[in-house]
Amino acid sequence: MSAHPPVNPAHLQNLVVNGFDTHNTRYFLLHIADTQAGAARQFLRTLLDQGWVVNADNSRNQANALLQHQRCPVGIGFTFAGLQAMGLPTHYQRLFQSRATAFAEGAAPRASHRLADTGPSAVAEWEPAFQARAAHLFLTLHADDPAVLDQCTTTLRTMAGPAFAPEGWAQPFDGAHLGHNKKSRREHFGFLDGITNPLIDGVHRHTPGHAELKVGQKLLPPGEFLLGYGNSDGYNRWLIASEDAEVRQFFADGSFSAFRKMEQNTEAFNTFVQSQTSSALPEETVRAKLLGRWHDGQVITPTQATPPTGPKPSTRAGLNDFDFSADPQGQGCPFGAHIRRMNPREDPVVPVRKRPLIRRGIPYTSPDERGLLGLFFCASLEDQFEHLLAEWGNKNPFGVPNPSSAKDPIVGNHEGSGGVFDIPSATGPNPQLCGFKPFVKTKGTLYSFFPSLPSLDVLARGIYEK
Ligand code: HEM
Repeated sequence: MSAHPPVNPAHLQNLVVNGFDTHNTRYFLLHIADTQAGAARQFLRTLLDQGWVVNADNSRNQANALLQHQRCPVGIGFTFAGLQAMGLPTHYQRLFQSRATAFAEGAAPRASHRLADTGPSAVAEWEPAFQARAAHLFLTLHADDPAVLDQCTTTLRTMAGPAFAPEGWAQPFDGAHLGHNKKSRREHFGFLDGITNPLIDGVHRHTPGHAELKVGQKLLPPGEFLLGYGNSDGYNRWLIASEDAEVRQFFADGSFSAFRKMEQNTEAFNTFVQSQTSSALPEETVRAKLLGRWHDGQVITPTQATPPTGPKPSTRAGLNDFDFSADPQGQGCPFGAHIRRMNPREDPVVPVRKRPLIRRGIPYTSPDERGLLGLFFCASLEDQFEHLLAEWGNKNPFGVPNPSSAKDPIVGNHEGSGGVFDIPSATGPNPQLCGFKPFVKTKGTLYSFFPSLPSLDVLARGIYEK
């Protein structure tokens, strides 16, 4: 039996816990215009009344109903500055400041020490919309057809009236999956993506209306992603005294997000991979060792020097039916590989504290740039998102003995020497890769709070207490 209060899917924004499996996504970073908090509230009111903010209870039906009215599903987050602009009372603000410092400070002032964003990735180089306190509202739109996004943008812009500064509407962040096969989506470096996402106890568990769990699927406590529940350690940071029921209710079922625009230098990445290729390490093996998965998405295991030739698991769950307890020396998936760093699973050498992230990344492509619009959800930006980047991604990997000094090969900040990526081998000597370049450049990061549906309603009404 679950050790937490029941989760009500109708309270959760569907984007957070399930996402929308659409080909296209459009993000807006909007700034509430001076003296227009009332108009922003009215905009939110209309969005809620018209059902644009899809919740996690039978979300597919809600999305279909929207499409019939020339609307599309949306998600809504607020930055701390945005909640202030919406008139959130100071005692609510103080709770964010004391229990969610990263969110309250915003990503920009923390980027150099908590996100490894220095050099070309430094905040001074970020796009204007990501600069400190520039954005208030983070609005996401989802559709399979870009024309629907255009139409919905026009509708929403009209609906908002003078609520937001016009620059935000003029600069959407458009993401589009590469290729239309939803089962085999790749990002710009060519890796299969969208394989893994955590499943949440009480949201995705095998209750009526939900599919049975498949092989390889594990449930994580809701408190890793939603406020007001215990996490894997049983710790609930959002326990608030019961006499403050309204206050507690406001935070409950919300989630924090990090939106991170990352430019990918595919030419530098491919040149690097080719420079490391040898007869002992063919190109496909180098790529697999860097990520931790083969081209077809299967994890790389200790017995495989070349890509597996047999049939691959036919489902995402099948591709996730593994942990690193069977690979304690990293002879299959190296300790430094992206997926082993970002989710060490049951790695025998790492601390027990799990730091899971929900990922909703989508590639973007413009005439002179390509990259990933990363969107991550978690209950603690400090303990999860920032820890993964600052500690697990940009310091030496776990693993003993481990001569690796390179950062995460995909997302590490490889300014300067770049370090050595050690590939443990049973037959020795270990091959080592070096000459890493900055393959990914940060163009901006934005922290938002995605309130529950009832709390969006509170924000729309501007009434916080009985
Ligand atoms: C351009 C930047 C990035 C690229 C190209 C990239 C690529 C990938 C790919 C191809 C996978 C494997 C597919 C899957 O498991 O679904 C993956 C997994 C993952 N990535 Fe990234 N990623 C990027 C940035 C990040 C960042 C910034 C973070 C965290 C702060 C992150 C965290 C993760 C996590 C947690 C997983 C799942 C690992 C697992 O559970 O096995 N990634 N990434």
